Amino acid sequence: MAQQRKIGVVGGGKMGGALIGGMIAGGLFPAAALTVADTDEGRLAELARAYGVAVTTDNRAALTDAEIVVLSVKPQNMAEVLAGLAGAAGPAALFISIAAGISTGFIEQALGTGVRVVRVMPNMPALIGEGAAALCRGAFATDADLEVARRIFAAVGITVEVDESLMDAVTGLSGSGPGYAFLIIEALADAGVRMGLAADVALRLASQSLLGAAKLCLKGEKPPAELRAMVTSPGGTTLAGLKVLEEGKLREVLIAAVAAATHRSAELGGRK
Ligand SMILES: NC(=O)c1ccc[n+]([C@@H]2O[C@H](COP(=O)([O-])OP(=O)(O)OC[C@H]3O[C@@H](n4cnc5c(N)ncnc54)[C@H](OP(=O)(O)O)[C@@H]3O)[C@@H](O)[C@H]2O)c1
Repeated sequence: MAQQRKIGVVGGGKMGGALIGGMIAGGLFPAAALTVADTDEGRLAELARAYGVAVTTDNRAALTDAEIVVLSVKPQNMAEVLAGLAGAAGPAALFISIAAGISTGFIEQALGTGVRVVRVMPNMPALIGEGAAALCRGAFATDADLEVARRIFAAVGITVEVDESLMDAVTGLSGSGPGYAFLIIEALADAGVRMGLAADVALRLASQSLLGAAKLCLKGEKPPAELRAMVTSPGGTTLAGLKVLEEGKLREVLIAAVAAATHRSAELGGRK
């Protein structure tokens, strides 16, 4: 990726900040290439101090000469922000939006014909470089645009490409997934305490158990069912625990949770 590219980031909040940190730490762009716009002057001062990026409260100023514009404001602020940005970027600018539920078509319409848009659904562990992001392209974005966006999100986790029609499903699975995992870890840790463990010990053991299992799955050498079989000896402890989970219909409950979140994402985006 060309080092001389200028990047404008509109919205330097939690996710915008994580992306800025990832881009710089990952060596994708030098801090000098980045300009961040936000309404919160305190937050801008923090970002300038932490990363040495240029900051401004004028969204349009962040787009001057920018080849890549990251839109990371809240979905409810997007219409207003886009209205203020129309015409501010050069024709060569690529827009990358992470606003949940905001379609590429909406952005294309707001910014004018032919604008190249890549939409991304990241998730919260991007804050520590362990995110999962799904990317889709708008009508005018090219393969090269998608690759630019993919590299930015690869700096803060894993990436996949999906068709835009599947963005609600992504939101229901990986967008909301950290929330499900926190609940599971919380419950496992509570269970450990009931069995006599100290709370901090139980929390560490529960968290690391999920992390280790997830890492084995991500290695991709064996499917989860096979890994599960490897830790389930006949008549053993894991089998006793798994029997309770199956009887309690954990599988069905998780499927229903992802379906409900997917449906809610579509509803919030006005698609249901
Ligand atoms: N956090 C996540 O886990 C997550 C996951 C997936 C997708 N996303 C998406 O990422 C986007 C950002 O989320 P976030 O969690 O980073 O939110 P956030 O921390 O609230 O960041 C948004 C930033 O934009 C600023 N802002 C508000 N109005 C603005 C305007 N008109 N012009 C410029 N800046 C403005 C906000 O300032 P004020 O604080 O002054 O309002 C804030 O600093 C959202 O669209 C969300 O859907 C987030």
